[in-house]
Amino acid sequence: MDLHDHLRVVRQRWWVVLATVMVALGVAGFLTVRAEPKYTASVTFFVTTPSRGLGDAYQGGLFLQQRVKSYVDLLTSDRLAQDVAAANPIGLAAGEVQSRVSANVQMDTVLLTATITDTDKGRALRLAEAVAASFIPLVERIETPPGDDNPPVKLEVVSGPRVNPDPVSPQPTRTFLLAGLIGLVLGVGLSVLRGRADTTIHDGETLHRVTTSPLLGQVPFDQSARLSPLIVKSAATSARAEALRKLRTNLRFVDVQEPAGVIAVTSAVQGEGKSTTACNLAIVLAEAGWRVLLIDADLRRPRVANYLGMPTGIGLTDVLIGEAEINDAVRPWGDRSLLVLPAGSIPPNPSELLGSKGMADLLLSLRESADIIIIDTAPLLAVTDGVVVAVQADGALLVTRAGKTSRTQVAAATQALSSVAARLLGCVLNMAKVPPSEAYQYEAYRVTGPTARSVQGGNRPSRSTSHAVQGTGLEAEPPRGQIDVLATRVVDQPTQELTRIPR
Ligand SMILES: Nc1ncnc2c1ncn2[C@@H]1O[C@H](COP(=O)(O)OP(=O)(O)OP(=O)(O)O)[C@@H](O)[C@H]1O
Ligand SMILES: [Mg+2]
Repeated sequence: MDLHDHLRVVRQRWWVVLATVMVALGVAGFLTVRAEPKYTASVTFFVTTPSRGLGDAYQGGLFLQQRVKSYVDLLTSDRLAQDVAAANPIGLAAGEVQSRVSANVQMDTVLLTATITDTDKGRALRLAEAVAASFIPLVERIETPPGDDNPPVKLEVVSGPRVNPDPVSPQPTRTFLLAGLIGLVLGVGLSVLRGRADTTIHDGETLHRVTTSPLLGQVPFDQSARLSPLIVKSAATSARAEALRKLRTNLRFVDVQEPAGVIAVTSAVQGEGKSTTACNLAIVLAEAGWRVLLIDADLRRPRVANYLGMPTGIGLTDVLIGEAEINDAVRPWGDRSLLVLPAGSIPPNPSELLGSKGMADLLLSLRESADIIIIDTAPLLAVTDGVVVAVQADGALLVTRAGKTSRTQVAAATQALSSVAARLLGCVLNMAKVPPSEAYQYEAYRVTGPTARSVQGGNRPSRSTSHAVQGTGLEAEPPRGQIDVLATRVVDQPTQELTRIPR
């Protein structure tokens, strides 16, 4: 993962960063409210030595700089604490005095500062005075050699004792800034870790990179899709429908020199939205005036008829084994620009059937009956059926379920297609998370014109009103034998948006 990937991962998991920062700020706020304010009082000593002459002064200076370091420890020693507690009773035991005193020496000087920290301002000051009063005689007593009355060092208070009127803690501004920073670093770290652990594909850019094929569409996750998989009626103006229309338009640009007339809709694993995408793509293509034939070639889990609300009667398998005529098996859906060839009876040997010469011949003959043939297939990594169909089509459309399918699975699916020289037209990220800004755009520019009309029950005049189903358009079927597949044509052209792929 490079820096760009890390940034993307953090952007995708911005809520983790936000949550961590909020938690850190919350903890900081709690600690600030709970913390008792603390004050400091300080006193500064100047340490000197009686000298005679310049040479002596220099030697004395060096001597003091070394001694003064020991005085820092002496200020926090048991001995001084006991002296303070004994001489100036301010209600604190020696240990309590010791815990309140800290000391430091200013670099390369003989200035020594004792700092007293206490929750009580007045007590801090009184303790500083007591420390000053006890420390000077203690040093002189310790430094005076036995039998001598003159100590070699002399301490004088040069500053303080003085108490700082503002508390040294808590410091809300510093605490919140620090907490915010820690939360940010933790949040970014967590997002990157989660991003590294998560190998699923979440965005179109990654899908494009893994498949090295064009990203033709990103279909947003739609809660209502489980119950109403088709983009008809009220769903015809949904964000999902718009995304599928975009997919229709993008398909046009895939290869203008060699446009694909037969498109296999496939995916790496089960449940990524192949059948839904195939049905809806067929619907939007038909909506734009194309003669579309939708074939359900997923002979293991056929869903097309079910999604389109058609009875699962005879279909592809029955035609392939010679038990039914193609004209009987193909049925119109909605108005006559969309024809459907359901899967038919479930056979024991789907791969052989799909790879048979009969299937190749059938596809060849059907090419003439439609501008575009959309074939729904089985998942590529589960069985060979998908590859067998994709290789016979002009190209495959790889559907990937956002946040579920792993990069390895998508790469394996791409590899499965390329190993048989099947042409990968592009990929579609299904059930994608759409940023709220984009969702808003969809809302703001809801399509209300002719392109928004669903195929069935739409306003386009139908040539065969006896078969066109008003309302749902799902149940009614023309009598068997009356459909001449080769004669089926859409006469009325769409009044808006021409997306005809040149043949
Ligand atoms: N964009 C979407 N948002 C929400 N749900 C969706 C979306 N697309 C498809 N679904 C739902 O996901 C489920 C699986 O869809 P579908 O049957 O199309 O997948 P599939 O790839 O054909 O599955 P299988 O591998 O079993 O054939 C269905 O319930 C469908 O309604
Ligand atoms: Mg399916």
